[in-house]
Amino acid sequence: MNEEQETSSIPATQRLSLTIFGANGGTGAAAVKQALAAGHRVTAVTRHPEQFAQRHDRLTVFKGDATVIADVVEAITGADAVLSALGVPYSRVSISLYSDSARCLVEAMAQTGGRRLVVVTSSAVDPDGFPVTSPVSRIIGKYLIGPVIHSLGRTMYADMLRMEEIVRGSGMDWTILRPPALFDKEAAGPVEVSLAPMAGQFIARQDLAAIMLTEASSTQHHRETLYVRSLDGRPSILRTIWDDGIGKKKK
Ligand SMILES: NC(=O)c1ccc[n+]([C@@H]2O[C@H](COP(=O)([O-])OP(=O)(O)OC[C@H]3O[C@@H](n4cnc5c(N)ncnc54)[C@H](OP(=O)(O)O)[C@@H]3O)[C@@H](O)[C@H]2O)c1
Repeated sequence: MNEEQETSSIPATQRLSLTIFGANGGTGAAAVKQALAAGHRVTAVTRHPEQFAQRHDRLTVFKGDATVIADVVEAITGADAVLSALGVPYSRVSISLYSDSARCLVEAMAQTGGRRLVVVTSSAVDPDGFPVTSPVSRIIGKYLIGPVIHSLGRTMYADMLRMEEIVRGSGMDWTILRPPALFDKEAAGPVEVSLAPMAGQFIARQDLAAIMLTEASSTQHHRETLYVRSLDGRPSILRTIWDDGIGKKKK
């Protein structure tokens, strides 16, 4: 498909050049797909371009490591906004992807004159990030789900907090998104975005991707940390823990 044939959802003047890290992951791939559909130009960064399925006239698939400064500088040069949906599975050993990539992104943006940065961490970095509304869910959350998630993700959440600190101290026009548990659905739907933690423990990767793109082209939430959730769709929390942690490690 070429640009002339395509029906874009935004005017030509609002089309951006976006560099998306984690583009080969669930959220990143959804962001690439939605960005192209909207008319943006996309550089999709992955260490494994041979595994990246999407093709498009306005898509550049860039082989690079988000923790290697030379790769990041090359990938973001000329970008209007830089988006990170980078992630690793839960691990008992120390995780440094989030903080190492944040350092590289910020330094590379300083070198190339980039300003707009949207990154994804997790609502679980906040001890109050999972507010609940009913007594039953409070008990389940406190004695079952909460301890499992925090035990599995202890090293990940510590590094996400380091990433947030680096991003907040960067002087860039940043937005941090703190999603709850992720799941997949066909297409993006209605969402809620808030400065405070929300009840509602899920967001679809497709919805998270849509919020990343909205934030990349908006000044509304510059230098803010946002909680996000889907308003429709609801997977099993146990399935989500399996997919995100134990299942990923076994791959
Ligand atoms: N799953 C959940 O329930 C949940 C909840 C809250 C927040 N989150 C966070 O939400 C974000 C998106 O999650 P997701 O499940 O959609 O992502 P994902 O499928 O785990 O994808 C993450 C991608 O990061 C890339 N990556 C890892 N290390 C890299 C490196 N050094 N350089 C370049 N790329 C690298 C990998 O791509 P390549 O291997 O191709 O390079 C991978 O495809 C993550 O930050 C995750 O921690 C997840």
